[in-house]
Amino acid sequence: MKSSDLGLCNIEDLRQIAKKRLPGPIFEYIDGAAEDGIALQHNREVYRSLKIRNRVLKDVSKRSTATEIFGKKIAMPYAISPTASAGLMCEGGEVALARAAARMGVPCTVATNSLTPMEEIVEAAGGNLWFQLYMWVDKKLRAAFVERVKSAGFDTLLVTVDGSVGANREHDRKNGYTMPLRYTPRLIAQVLANPGWCLRVLAPQYLKRGAFRKANFPPELSSKLTDKPTDHELTKPDTQCWDDIKRIRDIWPGHMLVKGLQSWEDVVIAADCGMNGVVLSNHGGRYLDSAPAPLQVVPEVRRAVGDRLKIIIDSGARRGSDIVKAIAMGADLVMSGRPTLYGAAAAGEAGAYRALEVFQTEMDRIMAQLGLNRVDEISPHIFWNPPDWVPRPKAARVVEQIASRASAVFPESVR
Ligand code: FNR
Ligand code: LAC
Repeated sequence: MKSSDLGLCNIEDLRQIAKKRLPGPIFEYIDGAAEDGIALQHNREVYRSLKIRNRVLKDVSKRSTATEIFGKKIAMPYAISPTASAGLMCEGGEVALARAAARMGVPCTVATNSLTPMEEIVEAAGGNLWFQLYMWVDKKLRAAFVERVKSAGFDTLLVTVDGSVGANREHDRKNGYTMPLRYTPRLIAQVLANPGWCLRVLAPQYLKRGAFRKANFPPELSSKLTDKPTDHELTKPDTQCWDDIKRIRDIWPGHMLVKGLQSWEDVVIAADCGMNGVVLSNHGGRYLDSAPAPLQVVPEVRRAVGDRLKIIIDSGARRGSDIVKAIAMGADLVMSGRPTLYGAAAAGEAGAYRALEVFQTEMDRIMAQLGLNRVDEISPHIFWNPPDWVPRPKAARVVEQIASRASAVFPESVR
């Protein structure tokens, strides 16, 4: 099936199909957020509130959304965020995401908590794969794990640091969908109420691999979803601090990023710790419900660190125009997790690819409408009547705008 034949025009279309194809508690786990869902909604509102102006009669026939990050060419300034549950979206969900990303030519981040072993994903999909690390308390275990990630062939490591206390997701508690998983009658009933998912995803998993488990966990740790981790086994301890990041920096030769930052002060520390980038993120509204939208903090972060490291953002991008707005705000790259999960749930690898295609074709169209040929031409000049926190266009841009206005108003002989 060609992805363009799916008849799914946008990310919301994919979300609606995912809602039908997943058991209720699993859909709510991926779609939902912490507490009142304020951050979840705000992430979207901020993108939607920014207006961008078109420019007409410019030759945009040679435009391209392509760019590069960490020395590799990518099809657009976008990467797939790490998500723990991709394996529940469709059979081999994590491989589906990675293959879709490889086909599109964008990075895909494999999660520590994925349900497929990292080596298998590398083997089956290839492409530009990044690895997301949760830090175990046990330093030896952690170091050995980092070595394994290196041997598996990853060159970009992204350490997630915003989950040191469990999230307050009330919908998951009500659904009985919390870790460690308990097979309550209510949860079983809700899963069985979706026989399509049981046949498509659960049955092949059991037949080929047995129960779902955290497939990357070292053998000395329990990887069952139903087991309560001991203190020693915690992947997101509340003892973690910058010293832990420095220790990993010492043993990781590749590109390294920390994910889950919202404050410029932390980004300055990240730069001082030798990070190559940060992911400004409120985890898609899944932890701190009153967090700002990452898009809003890009300008102050950029002012604080300049070009010392890459500034990546996630949380809330659903349209190609969102990517353009984020780049104009000063971000180097945009990530998101849910859109490709919706896609994978809707139609496996083709659905995940469709989500990426939606982002890419929309971004391409918006660039044409704004009169932009290259990603490095995207700057704050595109915003119409921006709020205070948006950076002002650079002086050179303003001069260019005045000149182009003058050329439109005065004939050449008068100028
Ligand atoms: C996540 N996210 C996440 N992040 C991470 O660093 N490690 C993880 O294991 C997970 N797991 C996870 C599961 C699910 C179901 C979701 C939806 C998200 C967060 C993810 O990387 C990213 O920050 C958010 O998805 C960004 O929000 P949007 O843009 O997808 O809404
Ligand atoms: C989540 C964790 C796994 O957001 O990061 O569900």
